Amino acid sequence: MHLRANGRTGSEGGAIAMGGEDCAVGREGGEMGCAVCGTGREVCEDCGEACKAGRASDLLLLGGGGHCLSVLEAIYGGAYRRVAIVDLPARAGTAVHGVPVVGCDADLQELRREFGSAFVSLGSVGNWRRREELFRRAAAFGYAFLPIVHPKANVSRYAALSEGVFVGMGAQVNADCAVGLMCIVNTGSVLDHECTLSPFVHIAPGAALCGHVTVGLGSHVGAGSVVRQNIAIGENVLIGVGSVVTRDIPDNVVAYGNPCRVIRGKEWS
Ligand SMILES: CC(C)(COP(=O)(O)OP(=O)(O)OC[C@H]1O[C@@H](n2cnc3c(N)ncnc32)[C@H](O)[C@@H]1OP(=O)(O)O)[C@@H](O)C(=O)NCCC(=O)NCCS
Repeated sequence: MHLRANGRTGSEGGAIAMGGEDCAVGREGGEMGCAVCGTGREVCEDCGEACKAGRASDLLLLGGGGHCLSVLEAIYGGAYRRVAIVDLPARAGTAVHGVPVVGCDADLQELRREFGSAFVSLGSVGNWRRREELFRRAAAFGYAFLPIVHPKANVSRYAALSEGVFVGMGAQVNADCAVGLMCIVNTGSVLDHECTLSPFVHIAPGAALCGHVTVGLGSHVGAGSVVRQNIAIGENVLIGVGSVVTRDIPDNVVAYGNPCRVIRGKEWS
């Protein structure tokens, strides 16, 4: 999927561009936003077309733990007609803040009859492969994966968000950023101009990426970290909390501190 916002083209690779503040297409009433974003914010005409097709009116959240609470915060009052959760089998029949847990992973194929879109609400700290596995499994059953942006986050109209991206409360995504498939841009984090996140990256709460930073596949930038402009962080990297990253970081390492140093290797897991 590759949609435009205000005539601008999103970045490469399955991007959905956000913005188009003057477009009201796809709204279902005063309090409802476009179902593509599910956030209550108005979106571009292209999003409106997808919204009219009803692709995202029923949402299944995959994972009912802590990160799910942040995702629920972002969609309250949005356009989803029905929201439910799958979690561990033992949690079926319970609820998370009133949202029912309707089954477990094994029920994904059956639940596809009722839910058109899904979202991976399982979090990660370095262990990104479980999120990838859930995504691939559900995508194979035909669920749509759309970005979810908290209404109190700011996403530039010149930024592009790929499928399944989460942008949490108070996060900022500035111009010409490209956020890859299934990334988490968590609460209060900042991506300044021209940052590029590869798929399955997690920018943890309060972390700040100065301009033109790139982060490789599956990497985690720890809470409260600061990454200097023009830095490249490799694939499968775990940056510890509160780090100050002033040099490029190679693939497959755990690194932390001020200045941030490579501490040890990291398995591809
Ligand atoms: C980097 C990290 C993975 C290291 O975890 P770990 O291997 O279990 O390390 P430990 O907790 O055993 O700590 C080992 C030592 O490193 C130090 N250390 C750990 N993380 C550190 C960090 N980010 N900065 C500086 N020192 C750190 C510990 O204080 C400890 O020092 P000590 O031996 O002198 O007591 C972890 O501390 C971290 O920062 N995880 C990211 C958390 C995050 O971003 N959470 C957001 C969730 S949304």
